[in-house]
Amino acid sequence: MASLRYIFMLSLGFLFVLYSVQSDAAVLGKTLKRIAKLNRNGPYMGLVIPNSFEMNPLLQSPSFQPNESLPYVDFAGRRFRLGTIEGEKVILVMTGLAMLNAGVTTQLLLALFKVKGVVHYGIAGNANPDLNIGDVTIPQFWAHTGLWNWQRYGDGPEDELPLESNGDYTRKIGYLHFADYSIDDGNKTLNTSENLLNNVWYQPEEVFPINGIPETRGHAFWVPVNSHYFALSNRLENLKLKNCINSTTCLSSPPVVKRVARGSSSSIFVDNAAYRSFIYNKFNISPIDMESAAVALVCHQQKTPFIVFRALSDLAGGGEAQSNEASIFASLAANNSVTVVVQFLKHLHSVRGAN
Ligand SMILES: *[C@@H]1O[C@H](CO)[C@@H](O)[C@H](O)[C@H]1NC(C)=O
Ligand SMILES: *[C@@H]1O[C@H](CO)[C@@H](O)[C@H](O)[C@H]1NC(C)=O
Ligand SMILES: *[C@@H]1O[C@H](CO)[C@@H](O)[C@H](O)[C@H]1NC(C)=O
Ligand SMILES: *[C@@H]1O[C@H](CO)[C@@H](O)[C@H](O)[C@H]1NC(C)=O
Ligand SMILES: *[C@@H]1O[C@H](CO)[C@@H](O)[C@H](O)[C@H]1NC(C)=O
Repeated sequence: MASLRYIFMLSLGFLFVLYSVQSDAAVLGKTLKRIAKLNRNGPYMGLVIPNSFEMNPLLQSPSFQPNESLPYVDFAGRRFRLGTIEGEKVILVMTGLAMLNAGVTTQLLLALFKVKGVVHYGIAGNANPDLNIGDVTIPQFWAHTGLWNWQRYGDGPEDELPLESNGDYTRKIGYLHFADYSIDDGNKTLNTSENLLNNVWYQPEEVFPINGIPETRGHAFWVPVNSHYFALSNRLENLKLKNCINSTTCLSSPPVVKRVARGSSSSIFVDNAAYRSFIYNKFNISPIDMESAAVALVCHQQKTPFIVFRALSDLAGGGEAQSNEASIFASLAANNSVTVVVQFLKHLHSVRGAN
C-alpha cells in the first residue's frame, strides 16, 4: 500500500513538474511569436535607459505614443515597451543600475528585436571643469574604466604585469598611482612614492564581434559612437534646456548641449574630487556614469549603430557643496536628457524621410 501511495505521489509530482515545464514553454512560445510579429513591423530604434526616474519623463512626454495594441513584451525580467517618438518606431527598455545590467539588457534587446540603432541616455557625474550641472554631453568615445590589473607593491611601470605576456593584460593604457594622493596630518597632498595600494592599470575589454570567430577574442578600450549619429547631433547644440527645478532654485548658468571627446563608465559611483580630476586630466573624460560603456561595448560587438546622451547631475565629488548635487539636480538633468533624445529622434526621422 505504502509503495503504491508512494508511486502515486511520485507521479503526481512528476506531472506537476511536467506541467510547469510545459506552461513555461507555452509562455515562452507565445512571447517569441509576439516578438516575431512585431519584428515584421520593424526595424526599431532601441532606447536603453538606466533607471525609472530617467525613463518616466520620456513615458510622460507627449512625444511618446505607446503602441496601444501591443504596448510591451516582458522577457527575462525586462519590459520592452513599444511605441513611436516623432515618427520613429521605438522600443524602450530599462536596464537597472550598473554595467552588468546594462550589458545584459542591451544584448537581449539586440538579440530579440529587429533594431537598427540604439540611443542610450540618462544622467552622469561631470569630470570636466568647463562644463556645468544641467548640461547634456554627447561624447564621441566611451571606455569602461573599471577593468583593472592591480599591481603588487614594489613593482612599477617598468615591471611586466601578471599574465601580460599571454596578452591578457597590458600597460599601454595607463595607471593610477595611489601614492600621488596621500595626505599628511595637515591634510596637504604629500605625493610620496610609497603606498601599499601601489598602482592600478586600466585594461581594455575582451570583445567577441558578431562576425568574428566565436571564442576568438579581440580587445576594445575607446569605443566610438556611430559617426552619422554624432554628426547629426551637431544640430542639437543650440537646443534650449530647462534651467530651474522650481521657482526659487535654478542653475547658475543656462544649460547647454555639448559634444565632447570622451565619457567613461564603471560599476562605481564616483563622488571623489581627486579621482574626478585624475580621470579628466589623464583621459580627457567629461561624463562619468555606470552604464554607457556597457551599452557601447555590446553595440560595438553586435555592429549596431549607437549614440549616448548624458546630462550632468553632479560634479562627481568636485563641487563646493557638502554633499553630492545629484539629489537636487537629478530630475532636471534627467528631463534635459529626454528633451535631447526626442529632438535627436526628430532629426533622425526627418533625415531618413528626406532620403
Ligand atoms: C503596434 O504593434 C503592432 C504589432 O507589431 C503593429 O502591427 C502596429 O502597426 C503597431 N502600431 C503602431 C501605431 O505602430
Ligand atoms: C605627483 O607627482 C608626480 C610626479 O612628479 C606627478 O606626475 C603627479 O601628477 C603628482 N600627483 C598629483 C595628484 O599631483
Ligand atoms: C584633516 O581632515 C580631517 C577629515 O576631513 C579633518 O577632521 C581634520 O580637521 C583635518 N585636519 C587639518 C589639520 O586640517
Ligand atoms: C525648490 O527646491 C529646493 C531644493 O530641493 C528647495 O530647497 C526649495 O524649498 C524649493 N522651493 C520651492 C518654492 O518649492
Ligand atoms: C521632470 O519631468 C517630470 C515629468 O514630466 C515632472 O514631473 C518633473 O517635475 C520634472 N522635473 C523638473 C525638475 O523639471
